[in-house]
Amino acid sequence: MLLKNGTVVTGAGCLCQDIRIEGETIAQVGENLQPYEGEEVMDISGCLAVPGGIDGHTHFDMPCGEIKTSDDFYSGTKAAAAGGTTTVIDFSEPEHGASLQSGLDQWHEKADGKSFTDYSFHMTLARYDENIEKEICSMVEQGVTSFKAYTAYKGDLGVEDRDMYRLLSLTARHGGMLMVHCENGDILDVRRKELGRERPEDISKHPLSRPNEVEHEAVSRMLDMARLLEAPVYIVHTSTRQALEEIRKAKEEGVKAFCETCPQYLFLTEEKYHLPGFEGAKYVCSPPLRSREDGNALWDGIKDGMVDTLSTDHCSFFYEGQKDLGRKDFRKIPNGMPGVENRLELLYSSAEEKGLSYSDIARLTAEEPAKIFGLYPKKGVIQPGSDADLTVIWPDAPHTISAKTQVQKVDYSPYEGITVSHKIRHVFLRGHRIIEDGRFTDEDPAGRYVLRNPSGR
Ligand code: URP
Ligand code: ZN
Ligand code: ZN
Repeated sequence: MLLKNGTVVTGAGCLCQDIRIEGETIAQVGENLQPYEGEEVMDISGCLAVPGGIDGHTHFDMPCGEIKTSDDFYSGTKAAAAGGTTTVIDFSEPEHGASLQSGLDQWHEKADGKSFTDYSFHMTLARYDENIEKEICSMVEQGVTSFKAYTAYKGDLGVEDRDMYRLLSLTARHGGMLMVHCENGDILDVRRKELGRERPEDISKHPLSRPNEVEHEAVSRMLDMARLLEAPVYIVHTSTRQALEEIRKAKEEGVKAFCETCPQYLFLTEEKYHLPGFEGAKYVCSPPLRSREDGNALWDGIKDGMVDTLSTDHCSFFYEGQKDLGRKDFRKIPNGMPGVENRLELLYSSAEEKGLSYSDIARLTAEEPAKIFGLYPKKGVIQPGSDADLTVIWPDAPHTISAKTQVQKVDYSPYEGITVSHKIRHVFLRGHRIIEDGRFTDEDPAGRYVLRNPSGR
């Protein structure tokens, strides 16, 4: 198949070129390619051809107390594909105290045969003991080369400093990458307790319980550990100006630090927690939404190369029936929000206004995640030999985001009412046209598990 006359966007630039797909791979990229006899030609004049998105931060089918996230692999990856993402890396979470292998087996079972995109897993590390090194090695051998640990959620997923330090050392030693959720768990636990004493139904207490300092302190501590150990560290969902500044300083000093942020911290602000009634619950996530100043600092960090990746932290809960478990107490509202479907349209639509190029967006949503997480050059780039994971975008097709028309299985959209100019037109997963003119061509999921290499970064 020959895609003709599109603007081909890669991390390196944008060129008017044609793309030849043979089987599951990109065979040729160049100007004026002529069709072979019998070859199908698709004219994509006026459209962008961007690398299929890689979302390195999703939580599908994830237990959370008595409930679980509303999107499983079927609906979550279908939404991802609808939004132009062709690979997701989801967080596998072993049950309390269980082996990493049991978590990985469970996640394979959740995803196998139900995924519309290709997929891989990060592994959550919530314990340190004498077996963990062997288990980490075994994960790396099975293509799970990145791990996540939490400084928050003490008594559940959170790990103490002594264990964090050892886990950071071990993951680095075995070619892995530790991703860290950075919020000082002790401070936020005390603040939650204090703030919950009076009017616990007040959602505006959520951001007060986890202020900027709580994130900044934990980021700074993790960066010091990484500096000491000369280990790579990936800071997930960076939301504040102060945390970004710490990452900037560390990078300048040669620390192998990677910075992720998410659309919710760029497009939404903490005012949402003051919406009438229980509306604010839709936006309860950790870290919480921040000020406009924080958002602007993150946009600047994207422009000057301090932010490495833009992922979603898609973690959806129904407003009716799940979020409302916390109607009487903000501390019981399940944390997280959806967005896997909206990432590329939001970002490509905002590029010009924010002084970014399409190439910047391709780099942050596909190429860098591929490099950092050991998928490059199989994925993340449009070049001969790479998987034909391609998203074709109409750049001038304004439409308004609404829960009524979304694919993700959740009864609201945090981006409800936002008009975006760019629209996903076609999506190719390893050469298979899974979306054509905005419609799924097949209701059967065709995604595969992708083995990842140690990132080598
Ligand atoms: O509130 C959030 N972000 N929930 C998902 C889990 C996490 O911390 O990434
Ligand atoms: Zn997190
Ligand atoms: Zn997350």
